[in-house]
Amino acid sequence: MTNHVLIIDYGSQFTQLIARKTRALGYFASILPAGLPLDEALGQEPGALILSGGPASVTDPGAPRLDPLLLEAKIPVLGICYGMQLLAQNLGGALSREAHGEYGPAFFFPDAGSPLFKGLGTAKSWRVWMSHGDRVTQAPPDFRVIGKTGDLDVAAMSQESRKIFGLQFHPEVHHTEIGEKVLRNFLALAGLSPDWRMSSFAKEATAEIARVVGPDRKVLLALSGGVDSTVAAALLTRAVGKNLHCVFVDNGLLRLDEAREVYESLHGAYPDLDLKVVDASKEFLEKLRGVSDPEAKRKIIGHAFIDVFSREARKLGKIDFLAQGTLYPDVIESISPQGPSALIKSHHNVGALPPDLRFTLIEPLKSLFKDEVRALGAELGVPPRLLWRHPFPGPGLAIRVVGAVTEEALTLVRQADAIVREEILAFGLEREVWQAFAVLLNVRAVGVMGDGRSYGNVVAIRAVTSVDAMTADWARLPDALLARFSTRIINEVPGVGRVLYDISSKPPSTIEFE
Ligand code: XMP
Repeated sequence: MTNHVLIIDYGSQFTQLIARKTRALGYFASILPAGLPLDEALGQEPGALILSGGPASVTDPGAPRLDPLLLEAKIPVLGICYGMQLLAQNLGGALSREAHGEYGPAFFFPDAGSPLFKGLGTAKSWRVWMSHGDRVTQAPPDFRVIGKTGDLDVAAMSQESRKIFGLQFHPEVHHTEIGEKVLRNFLALAGLSPDWRMSSFAKEATAEIARVVGPDRKVLLALSGGVDSTVAAALLTRAVGKNLHCVFVDNGLLRLDEAREVYESLHGAYPDLDLKVVDASKEFLEKLRGVSDPEAKRKIIGHAFIDVFSREARKLGKIDFLAQGTLYPDVIESISPQGPSALIKSHHNVGALPPDLRFTLIEPLKSLFKDEVRALGAELGVPPRLLWRHPFPGPGLAIRVVGAVTEEALTLVRQADAIVREEILAFGLEREVWQAFAVLLNVRAVGVMGDGRSYGNVVAIRAVTSVDAMTADWARLPDALLARFSTRIINEVPGVGRVLYDISSKPPSTIEFE
């Protein structure tokens, strides 16, 4: 048995939160979508199982089922919401389907004698978060009911000798005030010790990469200057030293001083890092000339990147491994039984390399969430400036110039973008805001400048809050900051006559304009 917690995902919007919370408590957690084969996951001897919530009704014929192997494995189990209902259904309890579900806060009355609720404090009831349609009306025969709400007679249940527990509420969400303690109690009852730390992860990952790569084989990494590839570089340079070769392609679509800044920051932190900056801006701009369709622009940039990167890779001689900064959410999405979500825009990566360049992939961050990558970066000494950079799309400023991309348009949007970033920083909002940037629209507007009529470009500012870029809301920025954007951009960026603020959320809009 290991200290690993295996989470079976029945489709709840909170499943990733269960993993995050569990890891934050010091236990390594991984997620397996329900319905996928269990052999490998169970072969790793998880020390505890958590069954997530889910949108289906356990009574529906097509609803995801509890695989009997999970109970046969005799591992301590916590079923949350749908997970508890599955336990009831499979172990002889009774359920009913409700016409109206229960969503939002409820008051939970725990059985203070249950070890699952040890150390909660003296209050009789606690605020918890509910989100369910069905309910358990009777716990399975050898189970004990260990909590109620005003509305539910069986809001929590347990079979202590087999260490099987069920909670109708969601302990993983912030609004359940006892959630963290209850999760911690379950994991302690399962007999696990909270010893998963970023420092131990860094050490183990370094040793594992060094073992896989060996003393003489080479690793190539496309460095974008973003958080993921930067932290991957920091980890790999520790693991394989001079056998790591990083290529940074300057496509001419970068932010102001970006190539220099990335080069200097990384060199400052890792003087021995082999980092080659390739200036391919002319090539990219040439290929983009006259193209205004957003998808066509993205495809051209993606292909041009592959061309430049392949050329550089060939110059390095025989390369054995290609490293990528893939994160855990991408991995979960790509193995989901429902398949990855529909293509909304074509994002480019280095997956489509020509046949003569066949590498083994190394994805050293693929078990981590974004905030864990930042914590790992801090552990490895990556400067905070690089760790807290806002996401920046691969096609760069080309998708922030609406319509055809010209050198002049890029210069304009680059200057406006630099002002937006400077002011966000000056107002101390860079961590609160997910992304903030300027977009050059391809319309003009009339104005008066000095005593004359002007006919200038229009710049839109987009600033959003988000946790994962899947959904986003426009940021409610202070008026004083909005005023700074407009005054500075109109005064300092030649050719701009008007500044707009984008108040669209995602969905239905996307974060980027193209
Ligand atoms: P959208 O515009 O789809 O963007 O709401 C979601 C997030 O992804 C970033 N983005 C990209 N990142 N290559 C990338 O590496 C791309 O082609 C790309 N397009 C969008 C965007 O900045 C936002 O954070």
